[in-house]
Amino acid sequence: MGRSSKDKRDVYYRRAKEEGWRARSAYKLLQINEDFDIFTGVSRVVDLCAAPGSWSQVLAKSLRGPPDSPTDAKIVAVDLQAMAPIHGVVQLQGDITKKSTAEGIISHFEGEQADLVVCDGAPDVTGLHDIDEYIQAQLLLAALNITTHVLKKGGTFVAKIFRGKDVTLLYSQLKIFFPDVSVFKPRSSRNSSIEAFVVCQGYKPPEGYVPNMSNPLLDQQYDLDLNSLEGPNRVIVPFLACGDLSGFDSDMTYPLQLEGASGYSYHPPTQAPINPPYKDACVLKKTDQLAKPSSSQQHQPSLSCEATEPQAADSSTQEATHQLDALTIQ
Ligand SMILES: C[S@@+](CC[C@H](N)C(=O)[O-])C[C@H]1O[C@@H](n2cnc3c(N)ncnc32)[C@H](O)[C@@H]1O
Repeated sequence: MGRSSKDKRDVYYRRAKEEGWRARSAYKLLQINEDFDIFTGVSRVVDLCAAPGSWSQVLAKSLRGPPDSPTDAKIVAVDLQAMAPIHGVVQLQGDITKKSTAEGIISHFEGEQADLVVCDGAPDVTGLHDIDEYIQAQLLLAALNITTHVLKKGGTFVAKIFRGKDVTLLYSQLKIFFPDVSVFKPRSSRNSSIEAFVVCQGYKPPEGYVPNMSNPLLDQQYDLDLNSLEGPNRVIVPFLACGDLSGFDSDMTYPLQLEGASGYSYHPPTQAPINPPYKDACVLKKTDQLAKPSSSQQHQPSLSCEATEPQAADSSTQEATHQLDALTIQ
C-alpha cells in the first residue's frame, strides 16, 4: 500500500493529519457538538479512554482556546495507554473500571465535579461479534459507573456504543440516570460500522443512589427480559444522524486532489501513540511475518473499529489495528 492510498480512501483520516488532529475520531466529537452543543458552559471535562488524544485536542481547543489564553477550563484525560502531552490536558494512565481512577479524576478537580464526561472507549475486537458487542457494552457500563462518581447533577455524558441486538438494555440503564438519551451517528463514523454514540443529558441519579465501584460493570443480569420488552414498555431512544450533510461521507473514496482545495501533499501522522499495544504486530507486519487471512476470514464485515484493516485476521493483527482510527498505521 502506497503512502497516500489510505489518504485517498479515507478523507477524514487525511484531513485529520492536515489539520493536526491525532486521530480522525476528532471529527466525531466535533460533529456531535455541532448538533448537541455539548461544550457551552462547560469548564470541567473528563475524557475517558482518550489515547492517542484527538478528543482531548478538540476539548482543549474548544474550551481553553490557544495555549496562552487565560482560562479556568480543566480537562482530565484517562487511558490504559500512555499519551503524548497535550497543552492544558491532565493525563492519567489508568483503567476506567478502577475506583482509584475515579478518585484520581476527582482530585484534579479539587473536589468539584465534572460538567461533561466523554468516552470513546473501545476494547480490542476479537471478530466474534456477540463477544465484541458484549465487551463494548461492559466498557460503556464501566464508563457510566465512573461517571456517576465524577459528573455533577445536570451534566452530560457522551459515549460510544455498538448498536447490536441487546442495545435496548443499555438504553434502559442510561435512562435510569439521564432523562434525555439520544443515539447519534456522526457523518465521520462509517456506515459500515455499527458504532454510534449516546448523548445523555441532565444527569439525575435515582433518589438515594450511592455511586459504588465495587461492581463497576453494573452487570447483575445482562440477559434479563428487558431486551424483549414490547409496546409502551420498550425503551425507544431517538436516533439522529449528525454532522453537516454536505460534509464528507466517511464511506466514500475521494480523489487526493479535492475540488477547490490547494494541491495535495502527504502529511505524516500528527502524533504516534506511545507504546501502543499493537506495536509488536506493526513490526511483524513490516517484516511480512503476520499470518495471512484465509479466504473465509477475508470478507468478515468490520464490527466497529474504524481502523480495522481488511487483512486483519489473527489476534496479533487485530491488536495492531484495534481501535484508534490508527493514524499511525500506513
Ligand atoms: C478508539 S480509542 C480512543 C480514541 C480517542 N478518543 C481519540 O480521539 O484519540 C479507544 C481507547 O480506549 C482505551 N481503553 C479501552 N479499555 C479501557 C479501560 N478499561 N480503561 C481505560 N482506557 C481503555 C484504549 O486504550 C484506547 O486507547
